[in-house]
Amino acid sequence: MDLLIKESAEIIRESKFVIAFTGAGISVESGIPPFRGEHGLWNKYNPEVLDLGFYLENPDECWFYIREIFYDFFSDAHPNKAHKVLARMEKEGLLKSLVTQNIDNLHQQAGSTIVHEFHGNSKRLKCLKCGKLFSSKEFDFKKIPPRCDEDGEILKPDFIFFGEGIPRDAYENSFADAEKADVCIIVGSTGEVTPASFVPRTAKQSGAVIIEINPEETMFTGPVTDIHLKGKASEVLSKLEKELF
Ligand code: APR
Repeated sequence: MDLLIKESAEIIRESKFVIAFTGAGISVESGIPPFRGEHGLWNKYNPEVLDLGFYLENPDECWFYIREIFYDFFSDAHPNKAHKVLARMEKEGLLKSLVTQNIDNLHQQAGSTIVHEFHGNSKRLKCLKCGKLFSSKEFDFKKIPPRCDEDGEILKPDFIFFGEGIPRDAYENSFADAEKADVCIIVGSTGEVTPASFVPRTAKQSGAVIIEINPEETMFTGPVTDIHLKGKASEVLSKLEKELF
């Protein structure tokens, strides 16, 4: 592994446009469970609570689970070493952009500023009627569902539900950066969800070297990944940081 870390650091140092693509795995060491795998959220909760059609029909029931999963769980999570190393790489000019599937806002809290939120962000709530945005900090979620102070309409977390389109800017910026990339670092994603998982694939097709950080093999590992750094995100990225700086 240490040889592969050295090789990866060499490639990153010589690169012109490195991007990162992150999934739920990078936040596991911040205490946020992944969606799939042994302790996956979808083993415990029915993904239907994040189905847009079901939500519009049953907002109260959905908000009960949304509060438990995304506000009770996530609220006191903090960025871990992995988030901080990616933020430092951006600061030192070694990472040009970061595409995340995560909605936990931990990359931003770690200091990353060029973050494409492919699935939105749980720290914002949106009124589906007037479009007004609210910070989740404005609510204690004791009374659910939260409502818009303009028109009383039920608010929806500003992250993508199943059946909902990807935010246009995030989509366009992510694929534009993937086409420019000469290195793409994938951290903590099964690669099972589309169109998100097409971002690293687009980078690969554009000739980028794909470095994958994950303790397991994924749908990327065979066809897409060039270097698999097998391990936990914070361990591997701490070692990479030592080689880079
Ligand atoms: N470090 C790195 N990777 C890890 C760690 C860790 N400490 N722990 C787990 N992983 C890996 C798992 O091996 C798995 O490959 O993280 C991945 C988590 O997979 P998913 O839960 O499927 O996460 P992700 O690929 O981001 O899911 C994509 O699915 O439900 C939707 O919108 C949701 O954004 C999410 C999307």
